Amino acid sequence: MRVLFLLVGSTLLAAIAAPAALGQLTPVTPESPNADGIKDSYLFVSIFTLAIFVLVEGLLVAFVWRYRRRRRQRFEDGAQIHGATNLELMWTAFPVVVLFLIAVFVFVELPGIKNVPAAGPRGELEIRVIGRQFYWQFEYPNGVIAIDTLRAPAGVPVRLEVTAPDQDVIHSWWIPALGGKIDAIPGRVNKTWFQVDRPGLYPGQCAELCGVEHARMLGAVEVLPEAEFAAWLDERRAGQTAGTSELGAELWAGVCAKCHGLKGEGGIAKALAGSALLADPQTVETIVRNGRVTRRATMPAVGAGWPAEQMDALTTYLQESPPSGE
Ligand code: CUA
Repeated sequence: MRVLFLLVGSTLLAAIAAPAALGQLTPVTPESPNADGIKDSYLFVSIFTLAIFVLVEGLLVAFVWRYRRRRRQRFEDGAQIHGATNLELMWTAFPVVVLFLIAVFVFVELPGIKNVPAAGPRGELEIRVIGRQFYWQFEYPNGVIAIDTLRAPAGVPVRLEVTAPDQDVIHSWWIPALGGKIDAIPGRVNKTWFQVDRPGLYPGQCAELCGVEHARMLGAVEVLPEAEFAAWLDERRAGQTAGTSELGAELWAGVCAKCHGLKGEGGIAKALAGSALLADPQTVETIVRNGRVTRRATMPAVGAGWPAEQMDALTTYLQESPPSGE
């Protein structure tokens, strides 16, 4: 307990001493209108919580000082007071007004957070976001697949259909600069969206404890200028068909390496570098599609449901550039 107090105390002190550290306690700069609404609500509620905190703690300290024992007997009772109508009215009315203000504010902000804006002259884009142990898979309308980094065009509303496969667990899609968390639930489709004007890389994190590698289930949105995005999407489409896209490398890094090590050096799962099995597409496919349960470990069926094109991308990558171990 004492350690906990010390820890919290020193963290608070550090935050007060270094404004940069304080910056880490505040929301990230919103880059999408829905994230804007969330930040506004957060700040609005914070004003009241801060004011009430100062009021309550101030009164507490003032009363402790004002009514301290002085030279009175240790067990002497204080004056007995019954009823204070004005005070009681105040402490009933004040919280009601505060809660009412917060509720009104949040209900006014809510449509801007939840509702996807109508598609403008530049159209819109819908992407399927699938949370799996322990990677994010993104599926574009033309069949393009990407792992962990979602590329999107600037200035266009992007609708996300967030889900998880039946045999998986619940994850939570969260890119703080682009809106709130939304759960990826097996067998259910949840919807969210963003619209970003400034190209850039916006990092995020799976926000639902989903297993041993949850902390490494990072995700990101890379917003590209519209023309650049269109070019990437076309190129990826062609590359996926021809088996020359970056998808294989993305699958290795996002799906396999989080457990087996980026160079196949091992980690929470066994080392794969030098394994002859990697050069055998049939074996790789069987294991990746079905997972594997041994006495010492359980590998989830990370590739269950992958289209052939996706499986080929991984097996080809493993044949052409097998992880070296160093
Ligand atoms: Cu997926 Cu935590």
